[in-house]
Amino acid sequence: MGSIFTKLTAWRRSEPITSPPSVGEAPATAEGKDQEPPMKNRYQRRKSVSAERYDPEADEDEGDQRVVHPKSDEQRKRLSEAVKNILIFRSLDIEQMQEVIDAMFEKKTQPNEHVIDQGDDGDNFYVIDSGTYDIYVDDNLVGAYENQGSFGELALMYNMPRAATIIATSAGSIWAMDRHTFRRIVLKNAFNKRKMYENLLETVPMLKTLEPYERMNVADALISKTYEDGTQIIKQGDTADCMYFVESGEVRITVKNDSNDEKEVNRIKTGGYLGELALLTHKPRAASAYAVGTTKCAVLDVQAFERLLGPCMDVMKRNIDEYEEQLAQVFGSKVEITDLR
Ligand code: CMP
Ligand code: CMP
Repeated sequence: MGSIFTKLTAWRRSEPITSPPSVGEAPATAEGKDQEPPMKNRYQRRKSVSAERYDPEADEDEGDQRVVHPKSDEQRKRLSEAVKNILIFRSLDIEQMQEVIDAMFEKKTQPNEHVIDQGDDGDNFYVIDSGTYDIYVDDNLVGAYENQGSFGELALMYNMPRAATIIATSAGSIWAMDRHTFRRIVLKNAFNKRKMYENLLETVPMLKTLEPYERMNVADALISKTYEDGTQIIKQGDTADCMYFVESGEVRITVKNDSNDEKEVNRIKTGGYLGELALLTHKPRAASAYAVGTTKCAVLDVQAFERLLGPCMDVMKRNIDEYEEQLAQVFGSKVEITDLR
């Protein structure tokens, strides 16, 4: 995990963020970068704590104590809704999910309340029930949550000080999970998943526009699937609900001509992606895709695609020209895939 951690820390320290996804504009009153940070000992503290690293294999002493915070039916219903789309919970089974729901407790938040301060030690992980929350890194506004999402996993996962400040901008409500429960139930799966996809996501040129923290969120959302040689991955004309990153192997892309013969138009290799086009155009699949040899793909569903890949849209749209050229080469005439550009 060293490298995600190192890069996250390096980026956080040196690079102010200019245009992350779902980010509000920097406020007119935002403190300049030259100003003294409000937390005097932040960098000192961070250094000492961040030297400690998480080793999942050595993390066997979290015990098995189950935490239960009683809840009304109404609370339980709201919480079940709130956790539905939390990416970091994706790899939990039903029983683990039940434990998570039992362990969470509700906290009401007030406008201007600092839910988390950068540099502090991590106590809880939070899932948003309602309300809006600004995210600051080194006093720069880098993003905002609106009535959904989660935060506070980094300090608990990597045993480092809080990497950002989270300030409520409205009255709201959040669900908190204590550090111990987070580490016992959520940590290992989520940590391993981020680690597993880190290298893949770094090699995908299209994702270079994402900040390291944004790529971690993509990793949370991915699910790997393996296809044997010749298996169809995508069928031309189908409706689309996901896209794919090629982890290993190769994918053959074919398009049908007027007499319904399939012609190969492209090959996608490791680090490439496919299936994004229909998600961009909201049209049926423009081509079919088949595994060449045993091929492993990381699958990203349409909801995560829309939530997380906003900054990559322009790169993806530019690729459409290339697709059209490939089709023109195989079919001999210009083909307009979309009027998106
Ligand atoms: P943690 O460091 O525990 O506390 C602050 C949280 O802010 C952090 O976990 C993330 O969950 C969240 N966060 C949101 N955006 C960022 C970002 N750009 N960099 C770091 N943390 C972020
Ligand atoms: P989509 O239309 O969702 O499903 C088929 C995928 O094949 C398409 O997205 C692209 O990602 C991929 N593809 C690769 N090359 C081409 C091409 N030349 N024409 C159309 N689709 C292509």
